[in-house]
Amino acid sequence: MMAGRFVGSRDPVMEMLSASITYDQRLAEVDIQGSIAYAKALEKTGILPKSEMEKILSGLEKISEEWSKGAFVVKHTDEDIHTANERRLKELIGDIAGKLHTGRSRNDQVVTDLKLFMRNSISVISNHLLQLIKTLVERAAIEIDVILPGYTHLQKAQPIRWSQFLLSHAVALTRDSERLGDMKRRMNVLPLGRAQFWLELDFASISLNSMDAVSERDFVVEFLSFATLLMIHLSKMAEDLIIYSTSEFGFVTLSDTYCTGSSLMPQKKNPDSLELIRSKAGRVFGRLASILMVLKGLPSTYNKDLQEDKEAVFDVVDTLNAVLQVATGVISTLQINKENMERALSPEILSSDLALYLVHKGMPFRQAHIDTGKAVHLAETKGIPINNLSLDDLKSISPLFGSDVSQVFNFFNSVEQYTAMGGTAKSSVGAQIDHLRELLKRL
Ligand code: ARG
Repeated sequence: MMAGRFVGSRDPVMEMLSASITYDQRLAEVDIQGSIAYAKALEKTGILPKSEMEKILSGLEKISEEWSKGAFVVKHTDEDIHTANERRLKELIGDIAGKLHTGRSRNDQVVTDLKLFMRNSISVISNHLLQLIKTLVERAAIEIDVILPGYTHLQKAQPIRWSQFLLSHAVALTRDSERLGDMKRRMNVLPLGRAQFWLELDFASISLNSMDAVSERDFVVEFLSFATLLMIHLSKMAEDLIIYSTSEFGFVTLSDTYCTGSSLMPQKKNPDSLELIRSKAGRVFGRLASILMVLKGLPSTYNKDLQEDKEAVFDVVDTLNAVLQVATGVISTLQINKENMERALSPEILSSDLALYLVHKGMPFRQAHIDTGKAVHLAETKGIPINNLSLDDLKSISPLFGSDVSQVFNFFNSVEQYTAMGGTAKSSVGAQIDHLRELLKRL
């Protein structure tokens, strides 16, 4: 392609370093789609006679067919997908092929292609993400009556509904889904400023500035940032479930489909699926970090450094597709062990309810916290659960304790008292489910 300017052959190692064809052939289809639209735009503006446009279109369609049949032969001289397709077009239709490149550079082409590719990938990822959210929400609706301890610092805190836990993850994922929608809208700007071209490829607008158009990779960074945050959320969910699936907790049992065994210890069932989800968060963030490093301090417009963007995008697209489907599979197939969850509900986790009891009797919360702390301590020194303290024991701490205190020691009453928005009462959890179901229709 550069035959006019260069003399002699290039260093083969340099050639290997420079070539992107080994991976950017994934853009083959969108590259052709872009070229078809561009040829039509050239015809509309009078640069290409209709007959030549038709030749170009039929050539491009033939190439598309070759790619889809796996019949396209990549040559070692093909540097990237754009030059490969152009070389083939010339083989098929002769010198007219050279007219297609009028007024466009590979620098425009590569951004257009990548945006087209990402637009397709984003709809697939978005569907997988919605499926995961839906699975969490529907499971929450079914298992709304199951109660287990909630944790802070991995220490038992207060009783919660199992659904509250599931929905906490669903809610975080809806923000990710919205972020993906936002970035998709912002990305939908065509780098090449020809109105006909723009309409054909269904972009929302044309780039305002040609220099910005070929150098901005904001959409890549935004996508990788979205992906990183999504993976962070998934890694948190994975970690929770890894802990809950240990025999020490035993709250959930993962389906064998998503576990592996040990080559040495026959009893083992390891949560590999969840561990991989957790680890892929690191991988995806690494891709984001690498692109940010590449972009920092680059001079304006196109520099070959930008070629690095594609492997990052491809890798993250593949990772998200796999991880989201596996996460959905894990969530929909795991079993909950209600007895173990109930067994873990120790009376101490009702201590804040005991403090609230005193508050209802007129005591300021700070004092109630101190007095309840004394009750916890007393039970501990007596070696008994807090609900086994006698009324006299409690009255020795505060005269406000009465015989109705026994009502406090009920896990069901405890979750039911939080009826405000976002709370653990059945009505509040039900409202979260309704809200998320509505949101899912719009996402
Ligand atoms: N393969 C290149 C990339 O991925 C396409 C653009 C090449 N442009 C250039 N002037 N060398 O970025």
